[in-house]
Formats: sequence, structure tokens, C-alpha cells
Amino acid sequence: MRKIKRSGSFEMTLVINDENFINPPKQAQRNAVVNRAVKEFTADLSALNEQTKRFVPGETVNTVNDRTQKVLTEQEIMEDWQIPVMEVMAKVITERGGDILEIGFGRGVSADMIQKHPIDSHTIIECNDAVVNDFHQWKNKYPNSNIEIVHSLWQDTIEDLGQFDGIFFHTYPLNEDEYMQYVNGSITFAQHFFAHAAAHLKPGGSFTYFSNEIDSVSREHQRELLSHFSSFSVQIVPLDMPEDVKDTWWADTIAVIKAVK
Ligand SMILES: C[S@@+](CC[C@H](N)C(=O)[O-])C[C@H]1O[C@@H](n2cnc3c(N)ncnc32)[C@H](O)[C@@H]1O
Repeated sequence: MRKIKRSGSFEMTLVINDENFINPPKQAQRNAVVNRAVKEFTADLSALNEQTKRFVPGETVNTVNDRTQKVLTEQEIMEDWQIPVMEVMAKVITERGGDILEIGFGRGVSADMIQKHPIDSHTIIECNDAVVNDFHQWKNKYPNSNIEIVHSLWQDTIEDLGQFDGIFFHTYPLNEDEYMQYVNGSITFAQHFFAHAAAHLKPGGSFTYFSNEIDSVSREHQRELLSHFSSFSVQIVPLDMPEDVKDTWWADTIAVIKAVK
């Protein structure tokens, strides 16, 4: 089977050599399914053409040296352009109050935002010693709140923590191996955490993260979500991106996901 799609700017040719690949009972069904896939892909290219016109150039650093225990500046932990994203995620995750688990304390920006909402408890997992020291200072601001830190990698401790009403996930790859596995090898960075989030949510509880996607989430991403959660919603958050952003993001919007168990 051969499909060609032409626009003024590109030409796409799809050749399916294996006659058993996409092989429903009728040829017309095969045509319909493949046509739809081609149409979707070419529509995506046109959308990306428009979106990339607004990209900032950025100053992306391509290697990730191990930063598990590195003492980082505030902007190295999280650049300020992400603050509106934290606001949306904190709101989403505290909607039904209860017990909140936050993975990655960082600068404590999202932790402050979570504390503004009425919740019963706030458990934070953080692996970096210097960040944990900052947490102890930060916690003094909230003497009457039920806040607990778990000083470790989430991979080593989450099994012991029970069930939550909301899980806020915001880490980054700690080294090159994590970068290759979780960023290059996944549809979205948080994918490696989906099964753990689902296992540690109470029924009806929700999990939030952001995905490096511009105006929607991909079908592959949606399929992964629906294999672990009963439903999800997506918010597109507008961003004020600095021209010299260091992070691997250049668009003026980003997708925040809320997945419900
Ligand atoms: C981008 S920062 C979080 C920023 C935070 N949301 C804020 O508003 O300030 C990511 C944090 O996750 C921590 N982290 C990364 N991987 C981790 C892991 N596997 N287990 C626990 N903490 C991790 C890092 O040490 C860092 O403090």
C-alpha cells in the first residue's frame, strides 16, 4: 500500500510493505484507517509549523552530569518561567483536599502553593541533601501544618508511604542514564512514574505533572494514561519564555495533565 500526501511545503510518502500490517476484514477499512493516520500526521506537521515560528532560541545544554547531590542555584533547580505551571498543578492537585504527596521539593515554590489550599497532610520526597536543608528552613513558615519530608529517592521509599488523594510529580533526570531512559525513551518524562502514581492514589484521587507538549497531548501519551487511570484532563498553560532559556523547552505554552484513578 502506498499513500502520498502533498502540501505546498512538504510531501509525505507512506509505503506499507507487509500486507498483514493493518489488515482488517475489508480493504476499504484498511484504506480508511491508514488515511486517517496519514491525515492526522500531516495535520500535526502543519500545527508544528505554526507553533515553531514562536519558539525562543534558548541555550540548551545537551549533557546531564549527575546532579543527585549537586548544590544548584535556584534557576538551575527550576527556572522562573515554570512558576505559572506550578500554580496550575498545585490548584489541580488540591481540589479535593486530603493527603498530598509531592515528589521533588526543589525551590519550594510549588510546596508554598500547595500550602495555600486546604489539605490534611503534605508529604514531600526529596533526594538532594542541600534541598532537604532548605526544606527544614521553609517548613518553619508553616508551624501548624502537617508536613513531612522523606529524604531519599522516590524509587527507594514510595512503597512504604501508603495512599494519597493527590500526587504532584515534578522531578528532573538526575543523570545521563535517566535522561536517555525517561526523556529520550518515553513519550513524556513522567511516564516512568505512571504505574507508581496509580498504585499510590486512593480511588478518585488525582495525579498531576506537565508534559513537554505544546497545544494538546499525543495519542501515544493518551493511551499510556488510559492504561493506568480512569480519566484525564489537560490544561494548556501560557508561558512567558526567556530568549535564553536553559531548559529543553522553547514554546509559549505547555500541557498540564490531571489524571484520575
Ligand atoms: C525541578 S525541581 C522541583 C521544583 C519544585 N516543584 C518547585 O516548585 O520549586 C526537582 C526536584 O526533584 C528532586 N528529584 C529529582 N529526582 C528525584 C528522585 N528520583 N527522587 C526524589 N527527588 C528527586 C531534585 O533534587 C529537585 O529538588
